[in-house]
Amino acid sequence: MIISPSILAANFGCLDKDVEMLNRSEADWVHIDVMDGVFVPNISFGFPVMKAIAAKSKKPLDVHLMIVQPERYIQECKDCGASIVNVHQEACIHLDRTIHQIAEAGMFPAVTLCPATPVEMLRNVITEVHMVLLMSVNPGFGGQKFIPNTLDKVRRLRELIDSQGSKALIEIDGGVNLETGQQLAEAGADVLVAGSAVFQAPDPEAYIRQLKEMKK
Ligand code: DX5
Ligand code: ZN
Repeated sequence: MIISPSILAANFGCLDKDVEMLNRSEADWVHIDVMDGVFVPNISFGFPVMKAIAAKSKKPLDVHLMIVQPERYIQECKDCGASIVNVHQEACIHLDRTIHQIAEAGMFPAVTLCPATPVEMLRNVITEVHMVLLMSVNPGFGGQKFIPNTLDKVRRLRELIDSQGSKALIEIDGGVNLETGQQLAEAGADVLVAGSAVFQAPDPEAYIRQLKEMKK
């Protein structure tokens, strides 16, 4: 399992310490939640913080843009050290164009779906994306409860990916812990994002290791 701990749940008073913990850990990526207070009802942090994390992180940045008109900020993501850029299908009028814009900027394009958006919305772009991120909570806040019908959605997405000959990875974000993580692994997820479960664990590095060892 690929593990992408969400820095949103870190201690912003001493981010360096948490980034160093992730460097030591078996985490594969660092998940970076950018919120604009318009697409979602919360504001997290922006590009200067992303750049500071990139400067310390030994792991690739998996950036999740919860913002309107994400196409305006693709080059900024590249300049701030992003490796993967997730844009919301619901925020992109010209989704196909935005996906190619990300790839042309030298990053891996990924598309995110809110809980209410069916996987069918991605049929025409599924071979163009490196990854699909399914939200298992309504985006905007850490620490929310996992929405159980995500498990069915993972299975439907897997069918869509296979039927179209796509190589897209399936990433899940929201309410992921050891229990929901195991269910998601069995349903066919490839990547788990986990925020509060990791950073509130007594031993975050051990928690990441346990998530990492999860088998399908
Ligand atoms: C929510 C964010 C998530 C968040 C997950 O909108 O996209 O990445 O950090 O937090 P947990 O794991 O606490 O649900
Ligand atoms: Zn996220």
